[in-house]
Amino acid sequence: MKTQRIYLDHSATTPVDARVVNAMLPYLTGKSGNASSVHSFGQEARAAVDRARREVAALIGAKQNEIVFVSGGTEANNLAIRGLCEAVSEKGHIITSVIEHPSVRGVCDALEKRGWEVTRLPVYENGIIRVEDARAALRPNTVLITVMFANNEIGTLQPVRELGELVRTERQSGRRSLWLHTDAVQVAGRESIAVEELGCDLLSLSGHKLYAPKGVGALYVRRGVRLQSQSIGGHQERERRAGTENVPGIVAFGEAARLARTEISERRSHDKRLRDNFENEVLRRIEDVVLNGEKEMRLPHLSNLSFRFVEGEGLLINLDLQGVAVSTGSACSSGTLEPSPVIRALGRSDELARGSIRFSFGKDNTDNDVERTVDVLANAVTRLRELSPLNKALAS
Ligand SMILES: Cc1ncc(COP(=O)(O)O)c(C=O)c1O
Repeated sequence: MKTQRIYLDHSATTPVDARVVNAMLPYLTGKSGNASSVHSFGQEARAAVDRARREVAALIGAKQNEIVFVSGGTEANNLAIRGLCEAVSEKGHIITSVIEHPSVRGVCDALEKRGWEVTRLPVYENGIIRVEDARAALRPNTVLITVMFANNEIGTLQPVRELGELVRTERQSGRRSLWLHTDAVQVAGRESIAVEELGCDLLSLSGHKLYAPKGVGALYVRRGVRLQSQSIGGHQERERRAGTENVPGIVAFGEAARLARTEISERRSHDKRLRDNFENEVLRRIEDVVLNGEKEMRLPHLSNLSFRFVEGEGLLINLDLQGVAVSTGSACSSGTLEPSPVIRALGRSDELARGSIRFSFGKDNTDNDVERTVDVLANAVTRLRELSPLNKALAS
């Protein structure tokens, strides 16, 4: 009999919703115009892109003309940080955090090599930065604060609204021109977002984290914020992102955003119920398990757990062989497992960081999935611990 597969890696990507596929299909075949063409095919495509723009804007409480369509979260982050920095200053100072996604971390590192100054705020044991640290890090030449809305490995929600207040106060005082960017890729569709309330100037989104296909995303750019386009070519997206629009992808993203907006509370409570049941059962049945990151201030669908005396990678492979798909934050480089920098940033030991696994639930998971995963996990952890030299050394 074929093993039933269980997908618990929705923070990596989500399956495309059938309703989203249906919405995009006509734009792959019959309605295949270029949104910049003058003829009726072009007009049809343009109207579809505009409808999608309204839906994506509505998901985050923005205005339609504040949405720039891009290829995904990575490009949104690159455009936000580079685009803003290049538009406003030759060189300056950026404040970010130590737990950013590589697409933010890498851009900040690259700007640093070009002479920009970068402060990386620490997180504490709860996986959250402190606004006081951001305030203390401000310099006369600080132009940008870029801190993610929720972390992709542990799900902790960062105090973006308070950072928005800080930025607003600094701007109003006339002390400096300061902008706020947040990477909301993991939040969209899982928690409500209201850009006005957050007080951010730039916010990144990715379609494939909310049941749209891969390869489409958006950057919210508050009205009046200057941005240097990072691609040179046509006049698309109000000169902010050259290149023919990915019409089917954008239509899909629009439909996924509409569904996320209308179903958000239902999805949120479904995911949270499964996640909480899962976590409680794991902590009840398996010894020496540690929850990574703050329990309350985190995304509702995600649980990051460290299993003492177990290598996360080995556990992941064991679960995969039983049909359960999860992920680890650790990366394999030159044959050695690098512990996840995010888990290390919480002050955890290398051993706990290497034993961490991310479980992320989605709208199509069931109670049955939770039950079976806990069983498979309990067996796999027991087996691996029996083989673990670390465990044996402690027992003797
Ligand atoms: C927090 C965060 N930012 C950015 C990205 C990149 O998004 P994309 O895969 O659409 O480039 C991801 C994807 O894993 C993410 O989790």
